[in-house]
Amino acid sequence: MEYCNDGIMAGIYIHIPFCKRKCHYCNFFSSASIKQKDELLKALLHEIKLQKDYLDNERIKTIYIGGGTPSLLEQKDIFKIYNEIAKHYSLEEQIEITIEANPDDLDREKLLQIKDSPVNRLSIGVQSFHDEDLQYLNRIHNAKQAYNSIKETINASFENISVDLIFGIPGQDSKRWKKNLEILIEMNIPHISAYSLTVEPRTILEKRILKNKIIPPDETLSIIHFKDLTQFMKHNNYIHYEISNFCREGFFSEHNSNYWFGEKYLGLGPSAHSFNRIERQWNVSDISTYIEKLNNCIIPFEKETLSVEQVFNEYLMMSLRTIQGCDLNFIDERFGHNLYLHCKKQAKPFLDIDQIRIENEKMHLTEKGNFFADKIASDIFVIE
Ligand SMILES: C[S@@+](CC[C@H](N)C(=O)[O-])C[C@H]1O[C@@H](n2cnc3c(N)ncnc32)[C@H](O)[C@@H]1O
Ligand code: SF4
Repeated sequence: MEYCNDGIMAGIYIHIPFCKRKCHYCNFFSSASIKQKDELLKALLHEIKLQKDYLDNERIKTIYIGGGTPSLLEQKDIFKIYNEIAKHYSLEEQIEITIEANPDDLDREKLLQIKDSPVNRLSIGVQSFHDEDLQYLNRIHNAKQAYNSIKETINASFENISVDLIFGIPGQDSKRWKKNLEILIEMNIPHISAYSLTVEPRTILEKRILKNKIIPPDETLSIIHFKDLTQFMKHNNYIHYEISNFCREGFFSEHNSNYWFGEKYLGLGPSAHSFNRIERQWNVSDISTYIEKLNNCIIPFEKETLSVEQVFNEYLMMSLRTIQGCDLNFIDERFGHNLYLHCKKQAKPFLDIDQIRIENEKMHLTEKGNFFADKIASDIFVIE
């Protein structure tokens, strides 16, 4: 199997904080007004330059343009961002450059423009091929647009394509959910990310649920869909390399793997987070403040220095989600024997109920445990 974490280097994340309209479930930072786009881009280019020393000159293996909706950018904007990064950072030759795109933006012309740019990986936010699901989520696109956007992407000769889906949507039965997977497999999409619908704080979904205006997601339904998902993907020879991620051999997301293996990353743009293994920092979640501060050569961020316990908890949470699992020998070496013993003791109840297994000092979630990853990790966490 080609999947391995040897030689992973630093990554850069760019946050584009604009969407045509807000989906009811989403609390990622973005504005539904695009009027500040040009000013924001100018500030972003400035931040790229000002942050050039953050990664200590490590070579950049991945760039991820996410959001919000980065497919609202024009080709010239993508070039400006890439050129500014290339000017100030040393880029790997085989760099992975991903852009997130919404189906309604992906017509033939747009796709050819992206293809004719440094971007070499496209992540399309389809969520579902059914109008009922898309309406529940308040997505701007419909099922036909979702389907056509993928057809067009394939016609434009993109190979490294990822599609995002959401399951556990009220009203979505197993048949409808599995149909989404069948469509992607029929089109031979090499990478699929599938997320269980969560009710995030301060979203319209949460407000509507609290006012009894809409049916809330049901955990039992999500667990059934997750089982459907893992069985279906296994049957179709996809590698289940992280809880929410499946790929064909050689198509894993290098950028996300960076996060999961605790590599350094630099986040640029409003609300973006950065991590250099010692500190975590996050930019202000406000477009006007971001622009104003950068116009005065100030990067508006807050930061915290991570304690050993925080780094341990983070490693545990991330590694448990991956196919490699959590390496107990690494915990012993990096965090000390006490935390190694703590880990084994806290994991014991989950071993007994078959939610965790340990093989060759690697701790993995079982199929049963996969759905409860967050709860299991938080029970093993060290509390400071
Ligand atoms: C924040 S979006 C950004 C990319 C793009 N705008 C899109 O909508 O696909 C990235 C992914 O997070 C997923 N997501 C955001 N909030 C979620 C939630 N509450 N439950 C499940 N998935 C969520 C989105 O559906 C999408 O696939
Ligand atoms: S899911 Fe994507 S398109 Fe929808 S509001 Fe969030 S970032 Fe915007």
